Amino acid sequence: MKTLVTANQKGGVGKTSTVVHLAFDFLERGLRVAVIDLDTQANASYTLQKFQSGYLASQMFSTKGDAVRACFKDLPEGPLVRLIASDAPLADMEKRTMADVASSFTHNVKALAKCGFDVCLIDTAPSLGVSMAAALYAADYVLSPIELEAYSIQGIKKMVMAIANVRKANPGLKFLGMVPSKIDGRNPRHGRHLQELANAYPQLMIPAGIGLRSSIADALASGVPVWKIRKTAARKAAQEVRALAAHVFEKMEIAQ
Ligand SMILES: Nc1ncnc2c1ncn2[C@@H]1O[C@H](COP(=O)(O)OP(=O)(O)OP(=O)(O)O)[C@@H](O)[C@H]1O
Ligand SMILES: [Mg+2]
Repeated sequence: MKTLVTANQKGGVGKTSTVVHLAFDFLERGLRVAVIDLDTQANASYTLQKFQSGYLASQMFSTKGDAVRACFKDLPEGPLVRLIASDAPLADMEKRTMADVASSFTHNVKALAKCGFDVCLIDTAPSLGVSMAAALYAADYVLSPIELEAYSIQGIKKMVMAIANVRKANPGLKFLGMVPSKIDGRNPRHGRHLQELANAYPQLMIPAGIGLRSSIADALASGVPVWKIRKTAARKAAQEVRALAAHVFEKMEIAQ
């Protein structure tokens, strides 16, 4: 099982949209996908509610892996998505020590890996907190969606540093890069910021940006991927999101 986390301490940059669309795309590719929602806002849990597993995100921080195995041991054959939904006790993790939270979460992700999933996608909250750090400790890949606005660009330096820091303890963690999101092609400021980012982080810009497209918000609100939205304007969004998913799928080298 390969594990990917979307992380950026800046809010509203497309982390949840990315996780949800990767889940739908990977399902269509025939994969067995676990999604863990570590954000108490529960946005991914809302959009993916039809994939509810009954297992809750805070249970991923208990010390034993037995409960994970008990819940997922008898999964049916074939492609599937199972949601480990956000729940209120997730907020309590921030009171525990980083070492404790990271080791219990990693232990449970390893237990999940033994249940037959090909891929695990983790959505995180917009904060450099203990649970985001735990997700980074347990993951193989991290992806950072970023908005092309000044506040977002100022914050990305911190995020890049946080990822570099976690890599000291989890050297297997690969930073797939930043996904420019909500790009307004007619806004010269966005064009300028994209160029600045490309100059500052030439290795880290993913060549598959996502435009500012209201059909993506429609899709997230309706519990379907954007390629199921029947509007002409959704076509371009679908192409962009599919291109991102194809890029991530290739980089993750998922074996089936
Ligand atoms: N490409 C896009 N174009 C237009 N709207 C978008 C796009 N991507 C996401 N949105 C909308 O923008 C808002 C934020 O997106 P999303 O929830 O994916 O970001 P996030 O980084 O997960 O936010 P948070 O940090 O609050 O968890 C949502 O209302 C979503 O519907
Ligand atoms: Mg989110």
